[in-house]
Amino acid sequence: MDNNIAIKLQNVTKKVGHKVIIDQLSFDVPKGEVFGFLGPNGAGKTTTIRMIVGLISMSSGKIYINGEDVAKSFEKAISHVGAIVENPEMYGYLTGCQNLLHYSRMHPNISKERIQEVIKLVGLEQRIHEKVKKYSLGMRQRLGVAQAILHKPAVLILDEPTNGLDPSGIRELRDYLRSLSENEGTAVVVSSHLLSEMELMCDRVAIIQSGKLVDIQILKGLTNKVDPTLSIALEVDDVTKALEVLNERKIEIIDKEGNTLHFVLQKNLIPDLNKTLVQKNVGVFEISTATKSLEDKFMEITRGEQIV
Ligand SMILES: Nc1ncnc2c1ncn2[C@@H]1O[C@H](COP(=O)(O)OP(=O)(O)O)[C@@H](O)[C@H]1O
Ligand SMILES: [Mg+2]
Repeated sequence: MDNNIAIKLQNVTKKVGHKVIIDQLSFDVPKGEVFGFLGPNGAGKTTTIRMIVGLISMSSGKIYINGEDVAKSFEKAISHVGAIVENPEMYGYLTGCQNLLHYSRMHPNISKERIQEVIKLVGLEQRIHEKVKKYSLGMRQRLGVAQAILHKPAVLILDEPTNGLDPSGIRELRDYLRSLSENEGTAVVVSSHLLSEMELMCDRVAIIQSGKLVDIQILKGLTNKVDPTLSIALEVDDVTKALEVLNERKIEIIDKEGNTLHFVLQKNLIPDLNKTLVQKNVGVFEISTATKSLEDKFMEITRGEQIV
């Protein structure tokens, strides 16, 4: 398997009785990426995350973390993961610091310095010796993140981490997750039902609805700033001929709407693609980058439900 892949889901399915809750979900998250998992309430985000971290079993499919099969080598796989699923579990009668000390004992070799470091990273220095029952939801959330990253996991998974955070807390979390991915190569998976947050936080977003993957959209130029990978919409007069050209180049079509094809491509390959299309007599009406369609897609599936 590609060494650069931190999390791999292959046809992951969860059935409860006859009900299919998660249906053949597949995606990869490379190291160093902030990956968003976006969907309305009840879409299956928490269920998927619970399967990734082994809290519940899959009905079928495979999940790999850093190449380790979660079903076969659970302990090895999970040793790479830090996670908060739903609300972080904390002992209210202990202080923040005591909670972290407690969790640090679950991993080998976590130094006192590392504990101080994470306290600083999540900005809880001033309040860390107070009992957790006096903490606001945002402070608990930050303590949860501190606990999840204590052992410097290669993969950090946060289920709706911005719930209960105020705007400045959300911003801090966002900056912090970005620095983890950029400086430590951590793969970060965050779920949310809020499109606006995902747009600011993530490199790529997977939209799920009713347990199915609807779309994956690239939001940022990923790691390569010089030659970013873009989400492209190509409008042509002859779709069949255009598809032949794209197929020859092994460009995978994500979506087709009328005469417009959606796919992803590195920016510096666009001129040559355009040239070939013209040479093959395909009339090109428009080549545009299509990040906006994330909002359109999401509005479509939620049908204008209150989401932003
Ligand atoms: N143990 C269960 N038994 C039956 N249905 C469940 C169970 N857990 C979750 N569900 C259903 O699965 C769907 C996905 O839930 P969930 O993963 O919590 O969604 P999300 O986190 O995206 O809001 C919902 O329709 C929910 O009612
Ligand atoms: Mg949930």
